Amino acid sequence: MQTTPDTAIILGTGLGRLAAEINISLSIEYKDIPNFPVSTVEGHSGRLIFGKLGNKDIMAMEGRFHYYEGYDMKQVTFPIRVMNELGIKTLFVSNAAGGTNPDFEIGDLMIITDHINALPEHPLRGKNFPNGPRFLDMHEAYSIELREKALAIAKEKNIKVQQGVYLATQGPTYETPAEYKMFRTWGADAVGMSTVPEVIVANHCGIKCFGISVITDLGVEGKIVEVSHEEVQIAANAVQPIMADIMREMINRA
Ligand code: HPA
Repeated sequence: MQTTPDTAIILGTGLGRLAAEINISLSIEYKDIPNFPVSTVEGHSGRLIFGKLGNKDIMAMEGRFHYYEGYDMKQVTFPIRVMNELGIKTLFVSNAAGGTNPDFEIGDLMIITDHINALPEHPLRGKNFPNGPRFLDMHEAYSIELREKALAIAKEKNIKVQQGVYLATQGPTYETPAEYKMFRTWGADAVGMSTVPEVIVANHCGIKCFGISVITDLGVEGKIVEVSHEEVQIAANAVQPIMADIMREMINRA
């Protein structure tokens, strides 16, 4: 078996269904890969998958690493360095996020146009990896070409999509109303606990990125209610088919 994918997917929240569509030719448990961290979050297994999605060779991470689990940023982003070594050129990511944009509703999909890194440790801190510059440009962290393609697909398929800025916090708490309000004034449309470290390192490696957030709860004044991990999962699961539809098309046309 020989797979030489140039496309990788981080199967974050909302992409379980897409995982089921992968025709797997090789799967490697994280625990069997030297230096790979092992996921600790309930509902996140841990393996690298190689196979075909439609007619496209892909590599997928089933289970990702979050800073709040206790890993440092080198560990959180180690899989991206591995992807780069394997020749990956394009990275697709998904996540669950709380919407801070008052126009958003629970269940909306948001194409990530840009991000704000509000994490306490920068993934590129320390000795520079020679495959990218010390001072990395971030003016197009999320590929405009891929975003335009996604908008075209959504239009074709009559899928409602939002666009906006994703802000990453360290978690594991959800935000207080005051924090949601602050992040909104900073320019965030959605808040979550992942994606930004991986996207920064992917950019450092010259890997093009595309990301979608599922809006699973609202951090909007007057609409804030108690939120639980279970509710986030339920809201994300409900839009899995649409999320999978967009990602599948994106990957097959990539
Ligand atoms: N905040 C942070 N992370 C999240 C949220 C939220 O409201 N919803 C899902 N992940």
